[in-house]
Amino acid sequence: MSVSVVVLAAGKGTRMKSNTPKVLHKISGKPMLFHILDESKKLSDDITVVLSHQFDLVKESIENNYQNINIHKQDIANFPGTGGALKGVEVSGDRVLILNGDMPLVTTASLEKLAQSTAPIAMTILELDNPSGYGRVVIEDGLAKEIVEEKDCTNEQKKIKSVNAGVYCVDRAVLEEFIPKIDNNNAQKEYYLTDIVKMAVEKGLNIEPIVVNEDEFMGVNSKVDLANAEEFMQDRIKKELMLSGVIMRNPASIYIDSRAKFIGECILENGATIEGACEIENSHIKAYSVVEDSILKDSDVGPMAHIRPKSEIIGTHIGNFVEVKKSKLNGVKAGHLSYLGDSEIDEGSNIGAGVITCNYDGKAKYKTKIGKNVFVGSDSQLVAPVTLEDNTMVASGTTVTDDVPSDALAISRVKQKVVNSFFSKFFKK
Ligand code: UD1
Ligand code: MG
Repeated sequence: MSVSVVVLAAGKGTRMKSNTPKVLHKISGKPMLFHILDESKKLSDDITVVLSHQFDLVKESIENNYQNINIHKQDIANFPGTGGALKGVEVSGDRVLILNGDMPLVTTASLEKLAQSTAPIAMTILELDNPSGYGRVVIEDGLAKEIVEEKDCTNEQKKIKSVNAGVYCVDRAVLEEFIPKIDNNNAQKEYYLTDIVKMAVEKGLNIEPIVVNEDEFMGVNSKVDLANAEEFMQDRIKKELMLSGVIMRNPASIYIDSRAKFIGECILENGATIEGACEIENSHIKAYSVVEDSILKDSDVGPMAHIRPKSEIIGTHIGNFVEVKKSKLNGVKAGHLSYLGDSEIDEGSNIGAGVITCNYDGKAKYKTKIGKNVFVGSDSQLVAPVTLEDNTMVASGTTVTDDVPSDALAISRVKQKVVNSFFSKFFKK
């Protein structure tokens, strides 16, 4: 049985109080909508996203990151509502999974379960102590009979704690028959997708209610929800990583982007922040270090180090208060208080405390190349563009402005003067 996916994402998201479209708000580094698309792609290759509000922005963002996602523009002025969203959508699968763009925590496993139902309509149910805000589901003899939106509920119906999570799996034929028949005779004057349940029941079709978990099927409507969803997602990411071999000290204090990959045995100490699509292999990230969009292999970093995007750090020791940006370090030691930007540093080289690559002259960025077995003394500045060839030394406190040829020493230092008996004369009472 083939499955198509339709993701409803045309809503305004007023409660987010943001200029950013709701579904592009990020959870663990990735827009909410992309979490859903990534899970959907594991199930189906016929995926349609319904958009309207900030159409161009969301469409462009999808097209920049995905191929073969169909985009449908809802005629929201004439057909507002979740039922209106499906008007004119064409799908190819026998079954259609209808998802919401603001449900970033849904997993393929749960969607698969829903898709496996053989009922003409399978719908997701949340059992909530506080059902307010949701459509209530009237369930009789184990089958769903009707969904009543809160604004259309009687006082008695408001007490129902089984609510509609808003995700469905429907036979395509059922959708094709009922979507054109939905009207807007309700409190909100909207075309409710939920009306297909009532129509199907009237026709004698079974609606299977499938109870799901809030920690997967929670909708994000506000920034409070966004923070809650982030917590669920972080918890999930970290548990998976720990089970696959990553050691974490005080996991609650660690942040890991959903795109980060870990290979072999890695250690993350408390406060470690891993942003972007990092690839970290057999490495140790010490406390309060930040690693962004970089590759780390057989290395240790921190505490309190900052590895900025596009760095490649192999077999290297990075100590405290070292910042690295867009640099390749292979077999290097940079133990303390340095800035290494736009640089390439090769095996056996030692970067002393306080060494700075001066990579920017106010107009453009320049490269620093440091070969093998180079010893750069503490508190030196390397004014780029500059090359230190293999087997060279830079004396402490030097400002390197010219290339240093192999086997040479670079030193630029004012000669020290010693004035004897100075202290006692200076402080004489
Ligand atoms: C809907 C359900 C309600 C359920 C709740 C679960 C209906 C009528 N009601 O209510 O039973 O308990 O979800 O969260 O379906 N959307 C569009 N176009 C629109 C309107 C909405 O694409 O014109 C999209 C939104 O972007 C969102 C989804 O549909 O992703 C749900 O819309 P929302 O406005 O949140 O529906 P609710 O009123 O909360
Ligand atoms: Mg909603």
